[in-house]
Amino acid sequence: MIPFPVIKLRSQFPALGRTLHGREVVFFDGPGGTQVPKRVIDAVTDYYIHHNANIGGTFTNSHETDEIVQTARQSMAALLNAPEAECIVFGQNMTTLTFHLSAAIAETIRPGDEVIVTDLDHDANVAPWLSLAARGAVIRTVPVNTVDCTLDVERLTSLLSERTRLVAITAASNAVGTMPDIKAMIAASHTVGALTFIDAVQYVPHCLTDVQALDCDFLACSAYKFFGPHQGVLYGKRNALQMFQPRKVRPAKNIVPYSWETGTQCHELMAGVTAAVDYLASISDDAKGPRTEADLRCRLVTSFHDIREWEQQLSAKVLVTLGRIDGLQLYGITNSNQLHLRVPTFAFTVRGFTPREVAGHLAARSVYCWSGNYYAVRLMEALGLEEAGGAVRIGLEHLNTFEEIDYLAECLTDLMH
Ligand SMILES: Cc1ncc(COP(=O)(O)O)c(C=O)c1O
Repeated sequence: MIPFPVIKLRSQFPALGRTLHGREVVFFDGPGGTQVPKRVIDAVTDYYIHHNANIGGTFTNSHETDEIVQTARQSMAALLNAPEAECIVFGQNMTTLTFHLSAAIAETIRPGDEVIVTDLDHDANVAPWLSLAARGAVIRTVPVNTVDCTLDVERLTSLLSERTRLVAITAASNAVGTMPDIKAMIAASHTVGALTFIDAVQYVPHCLTDVQALDCDFLACSAYKFFGPHQGVLYGKRNALQMFQPRKVRPAKNIVPYSWETGTQCHELMAGVTAAVDYLASISDDAKGPRTEADLRCRLVTSFHDIREWEQQLSAKVLVTLGRIDGLQLYGITNSNQLHLRVPTFAFTVRGFTPREVAGHLAARSVYCWSGNYYAVRLMEALGLEEAGGAVRIGLEHLNTFEEIDYLAECLTDLMH
């Protein structure tokens, strides 16, 4: 077992100290949104106290805000390994940014152009692309393998043609944790000249993201899933961002990334995004002693190595523990030799109970988790679960512990007896 400073890290999160029904709350709702470390709260507060202003002015608060925005872009560029800060666009959330992009792409769609989506995706990476059908686009869908909730590269490849304009794929499922082979899918899509859009909302909190290694054209994520504030982030290759004309007010700058940022942004949350990236980078400092001289990306590389190892150990325990409970059916990759193909997000049903009843039973025992489809509608339909209320979702983060998994098993066993 690797040493991972989970207790020390948890102590940085004021929200994790919450007690309910006489015990500390167990947060297994990370895929719905994570808690934030104190440094994020402080950064947002500090912005309001000392720097609050609009951008581009002549006075000090405005200059400071310009700097805060630029630093947030640089932090996100480091987190995603974007080649430059100007490839980073901020917006309200991933869904809004994706609809914004699809509306701009729609202007260039000609009847017969094809777009590929998948049955594994959250609807935020499906509905914006379905809307292109109104412009004459043909939508093709990569089906999910229902046995283990994976996507085949070959199934995607068989749908590609010279008419394919865009391929939208998830980097990690928010329901069952599957990580499709997006690198191979992106490379295949490029052979026919298609653009690629990656939904990395559920990937970024768990894995080191590298947009240059992936070679994706666009990638979107949300800071509130990686210990930051409610702030959406879109990465685009510079030429991909320049290829389309977003809707904008005329006086707003017509150069990327500013042309993509509609109206006044949430500067205070950008300060929070920088603090969240700083927190992620500090995880390796905590494990290996301060490395302040190392650049941000290097520190993130080490942190995500440690996060990944720790989360794989937690995942292995979840698989064994839930696997022992009679009447519990787990969906997705359940083979403990394939942990490298998933993030620690698990969906299951319990015989004799609706998913909401199970989530309610757990909530009454201070365990927070979700039930339903969590907007992964097509996956739930493919698994035949949609009508029956979806599934229960246990979403772990690096802040979770083995003891919390044992407690979950205890609560589920109680339910059965
Ligand atoms: C995988 C995935 N994609 C997209 C979204 C939508 O993100 P946002 O809430 O930032 O619009 C979510 C949110 O749960 C998600 O989990």
